[in-house]
Amino acid sequence: MRKPVIAGNWKMYKTPAETAGFFEKFRPLVAQSSHCEIVICPPFTNLAAAVEAANGTAIAIGAQNIAWAKEGAFTGEISGPMICAAGATYTIVGHSERRQYFGETEETVLQRTLAALEFGLQPIVCVGERLEERQDGRTEEVLLRQFHHGIAGLNGEQFAQIVIAYEPVWAIGTGMTATPEIAAEAHRVIREQARARFGHEAGDALRILYGGSVKPENASSLMAQAEIDGTLVGGASLDPVGFAAIVNY
Ligand code: 13P
Repeated sequence: MRKPVIAGNWKMYKTPAETAGFFEKFRPLVAQSSHCEIVICPPFTNLAAAVEAANGTAIAIGAQNIAWAKEGAFTGEISGPMICAAGATYTIVGHSERRQYFGETEETVLQRTLAALEFGLQPIVCVGERLEERQDGRTEEVLLRQFHHGIAGLNGEQFAQIVIAYEPVWAIGTGMTATPEIAAEAHRVIREQARARFGHEAGDALRILYGGSVKPENASSLMAQAEIDGTLVGGASLDPVGFAAIVNY
């Protein structure tokens, strides 16, 4: 059985004070929610506040990105040891907004994933096709490319520690959720590749999250799909009551 992961990606929202306020409301609502792992990924500047606010709970804290180097002249980057020192245990890697606006490539996604693993952070590696790619019938080709140029470069031990998030770009922040069936189909494509590259057992153990306009209203129908092992939630993770409802799908 794969334990579900329900992760919130706060993107560029909330201050440390707002982070504390969120946790005050959120903590009691998920105090009994041991059916899944809960991860919240705030901006870097809130990591310490989030770790402090989650202290004594099972809620894990993650970064939204990670540098490929340990330290050095990389203005604007934050490294694995810095994220660990803040008390976080996860990091998102290769989010489509990083790919779209900040020049992230398959190669840098792989380098960042390797850095996360090296420093003991659990990477949530994002993949997913853009609208025109889906319309051109190229979804599978895109997923295969992202898998083979990024994830396939890991060794078996490294692969066992990652979580993959399938986030169709056309569904992010648009209110256009992939239907549970569309999402499950993409998850099957990814899992097949994982089985082929890393073996049956490793592929079966891989957790694949769905992301893209997940809301309290659609969380349970997505989670009803055997192929969907959790969700990566953007906008709806900013509200403690709404995100708790998604956790408690
Ligand atoms: P929304 O839930 O706001 O569509 O964002 C999804 C996402 O990008 C999570 O990483």
